[in-house]
Amino acid sequence: MKNIKAIIFDAYGTLFDVNSAAEKCKDKIGDRWEGFSKFWRTTQLEYTWLRSLMKRHKNFWQITEDSLDKSMKAFNIDLSMKNELLNLYKVLSTFKEVPETLKKLKEKNFKLAILSNGTPLILNELVKSNNLDNLFDDIFSIEEVGIYKPDSKVYDMPIKKYNIEKNEVVFLSANTWDVSGGGNYGYQSIWVNRNNGIFDNLDYKPINQIKNLSELINII
Ligand code: LAC
Repeated sequence: MKNIKAIIFDAYGTLFDVNSAAEKCKDKIGDRWEGFSKFWRTTQLEYTWLRSLMKRHKNFWQITEDSLDKSMKAFNIDLSMKNELLNLYKVLSTFKEVPETLKKLKEKNFKLAILSNGTPLILNELVKSNNLDNLFDDIFSIEEVGIYKPDSKVYDMPIKKYNIEKNEVVFLSANTWDVSGGGNYGYQSIWVNRNNGIFDNLDYKPINQIKNLSELINII
């Protein structure tokens, strides 16, 4: 790939494993932990899209809590677990190849950044708790523009800050709709297809598809 000025990563689901919070409670939640975790994530994303459309913004941490409330009710999970789950969501683990891959990319002198729905505070905490400090040039949060992905104002942020062309960005996300969002905006989007998923029909086909981020080293 030529003329890459920045490699930009989605955070939740791409660098950080959103299921790791519920997984750490699987002894208490039981076999349903995975279904519960998926429901929580889906509800959380729906709330971002709905709030953007309704123009009733709340930050991603508040949305994470609101969607957890609904999910705990839907799965009949004891409400006393709420704080434990939220605290675990603040320290989500990375997928295992992430630290090594980021270090290799940094050694190759690529500009690396996160572009996420998350709040600046929580994103910084996630980066710190996973010892990823100093690897990113920037952590772009949608709080700067007050609307969620896939609004083009979000994808505009790095373009404006780095004064580069849209197609000089390689954007990576495990969220198909975010790959389409970035791709339709003009990024070169790569789908991190960790679970053999099916891509969306949203007017964009990813320029590449990888199973995990370590494969990026060979194609970049
Ligand atoms: C994010 C969500 C989309 O980090 O995963 O922006």
